[in-house]
Amino acid sequence: MKKTAYINEKIESFNSKIYVPGDKSLSIRWILMASQAVGTSVAYNLLKSEDVFSALNAIKKLGINYKLNKKNCKIFGKGLNGYSFKNNTIINAGNSGTLARLIFGLLVKSKNQIILKGDKSLSKRDFSRVIRPMKMFGQNIKSKNQKLPIKIKGTNYPRPINYKETKGSAQVKSCILLAAMKTPGKTKITSIPSRDHTEKLFKYLKLPIRTSREKKFDLISFKGIKNYKGFDYEIPGDISSSSFFIVLTLLAKNSKILIKNVNINKSRTGIIDILKTMNAKIILKNRKNYKGELIADIFVKSSSKLKSINCPVKMNSRTIDEFLLVFLVCAKANGVSKFNKIGELRNKETDRLRFANNFLNKIGIKTKITNNNFKIYGKPNLKLNKTYKIQKFDKDHRACMLSFIAALGLGGKWIIHDIDSINTSFPNFVSLLKNLGAKIN
Ligand code: S3P
Repeated sequence: MKKTAYINEKIESFNSKIYVPGDKSLSIRWILMASQAVGTSVAYNLLKSEDVFSALNAIKKLGINYKLNKKNCKIFGKGLNGYSFKNNTIINAGNSGTLARLIFGLLVKSKNQIILKGDKSLSKRDFSRVIRPMKMFGQNIKSKNQKLPIKIKGTNYPRPINYKETKGSAQVKSCILLAAMKTPGKTKITSIPSRDHTEKLFKYLKLPIRTSREKKFDLISFKGIKNYKGFDYEIPGDISSSSFFIVLTLLAKNSKILIKNVNINKSRTGIIDILKTMNAKIILKNRKNYKGELIADIFVKSSSKLKSINCPVKMNSRTIDEFLLVFLVCAKANGVSKFNKIGELRNKETDRLRFANNFLNKIGIKTKITNNNFKIYGKPNLKLNKTYKIQKFDKDHRACMLSFIAALGLGGKWIIHDIDSINTSFPNFVSLLKNLGAKIN
């Protein structure tokens, strides 16, 4: 694949129906859960991206076999205590924060040591958020500055914990839930709400999880179990991948799109609620329930009269991976948009708040940024006619894809580097854009 893309013109109007690939969070969770189930599990429409391949490689290193072909993926689980690997086995999580954080939970009782590594971007990210609760379970962890590479070894006698999760991080919550599975007794988590795919999967599998909401927190409790059986799963489309096409359609002229079969779990659809408040024409159709997850088709129409938003803090976790796109829409909206307590964006594949600020300034949009807050002064008549070079973004797949949407939606001449980063989550992104009529060289 070429590493640089050149875009010299906006996309022309389109009216299309598309499918986006399977959801990344659900694909990784299915792999990890299937790897410690008893017997064979089969997934259809598993995302075939680098983060997911890292997860498959990881379970292979833990001694679990899988078969991946065009039609499906099969994992041959050996039960909750079924992993077998040599001492100091190296697992490389690549770019995947989700895999790297959740793996700690899987290893709560491992007899041998794992050396967990990642790519350059993942090696800059903070792991104290999982090291802290995992040490409370009794896991043995050695690291320099709480960053990768990290040595992880389990304990024979994990202790159930009582944990307050205050970042709104689904990775931390899921890591704790996976550890709680192998820990006798009841683990309790009080958590700022975040995506709840793990809880939904546990409920579907009839595992002893309890969840409730009290004021601003989710209360979750889970009792250690002996085993669960392999299970099949059809992964729905990814709302995060869909969002690039939602925003492109809003910005394009006289266009419509129907994105079929997308997971619309409420903990993930902040972008839809925010954009609707901003006057975007988005309709969810054909809603259905699949094993506890909501699925729908998303219909979007070009929307010209966009207005700014004062984004409620409770939207932050529901929109966490889509803020770059929301900010781009704010650039075209009438008025000043405000975002508070969004410092978590600085801890992603790159510092996304800094990236967004530089990006918007580059295209002529005034902003105000602090450590935790962001203001965007929208320009409804924004038209781009300069040359924009996008580079040095720590190969953040979402920063890269955002640049394509800005180029095709707003115009100007664009040179986008490191486009291979897109393979992290959405390998057919460019070909889907080309099918809509985008001219990309
Ligand atoms: C994810 C949780 C989020 C999100 C990430 C995927 C998950 O991270 O940004 O892309 O699948 O659990 P945090 O838990 O750090 O918020």
